[in-house]
Amino acid sequence: MREQLEKIKASAVAEIASANQLKDIEEIRVKYLGKKGELTAILKQMGSLSAEERPQMGQLVNSVKSELDCEIARCAERLKESAMQAKLLEETLDITMPAKKRTVGGLHPINVVTNDLIDIFQSMGFDVVDGPEVETDYYNFEALNVPADHPARDMQDTFFLNPNLLLRSQTSATQIRTMENRKPPIKIVCPGRVFRADEVDATHSPVFHQMEGLVVDKGITLCDLKGVLEQFAREIYGEDTKVKFRPSFFPFTEPSVEVDVSCSECGGKGCRVCKGSGWIEILGAGLVHPNVLRGCGIDPEEYSGFAFGIGIDRLAITRYKISDIRLLFENDLRFLEQF
Ligand code: PHE
Repeated sequence: MREQLEKIKASAVAEIASANQLKDIEEIRVKYLGKKGELTAILKQMGSLSAEERPQMGQLVNSVKSELDCEIARCAERLKESAMQAKLLEETLDITMPAKKRTVGGLHPINVVTNDLIDIFQSMGFDVVDGPEVETDYYNFEALNVPADHPARDMQDTFFLNPNLLLRSQTSATQIRTMENRKPPIKIVCPGRVFRADEVDATHSPVFHQMEGLVVDKGITLCDLKGVLEQFAREIYGEDTKVKFRPSFFPFTEPSVEVDVSCSECGGKGCRVCKGSGWIEILGAGLVHPNVLRGCGIDPEEYSGFAFGIGIDRLAITRYKISDIRLLFENDLRFLEQF
């Protein structure tokens, strides 16, 4: 039995030494140490031994077994290591190869200005609301106190898709949608694209951008409107900016005002940018007309509000001294790359 054991050990060691794949090693393990393995078979013969021989043989079998275990583990380790080395050699990474160039895009000036406006109004507690660009006549005009034959429709030359659907001519439509869906207090701005059938020239485009603001709560007055707009003008044009309110007319606000800021280019002395007047017109605003509130189910006896509409394109043009509004829409990279 002792000889048999020596033979098994010798042949197992030889096989382990010549194994060159992990699966060979596993086969060897099963062949010798598995349930039906050769060493296991020897253990089963132990019963036939005398009581003195048995412990000696037991010890011997166990020591062969643990030796083989050890050899197998060492060999498996070695094979894993060399498989890894082979893989590393095969998959060399050439770190001297030039990287792919990544071109970095930038924001369109309209988006830069829009984001700045959003930051300013968000810091004053306004939510940002989005609305559809294709609107119904009701949301764009009717609910804003401009019924079908109202002469105020002439102020906005509109693209009609059919008698009831149109491309919104003002973001004010989003006011109505918001007042229908939320209860006061309401404090929102809605930036977006608007459309009017204007002839294209250096200062007019049939597509442009507005940001409407709306506040509805108990006890809102013209003072609140002034405070918010003065704060906004200072943040956009600088601390020393003066703000002027002129009476105006919009069907959906009463009273209505037009707001001018002192020209940031000349400080109010008069220059080319402000066409000599010292002032630049930046927005229209007013207190929300009671008819508009009532139409949205808000009681004008209990609540009041103000609204304003900022022309984003005009802001971008004055900020970046852009000479022609068309440049904003042509998407010529030579122009856009300057921002
Ligand atoms: N929607 C108006 C316009 O486009 C601007 C405005 C908005 C005026 C809100 C007053 C209040 O001309």
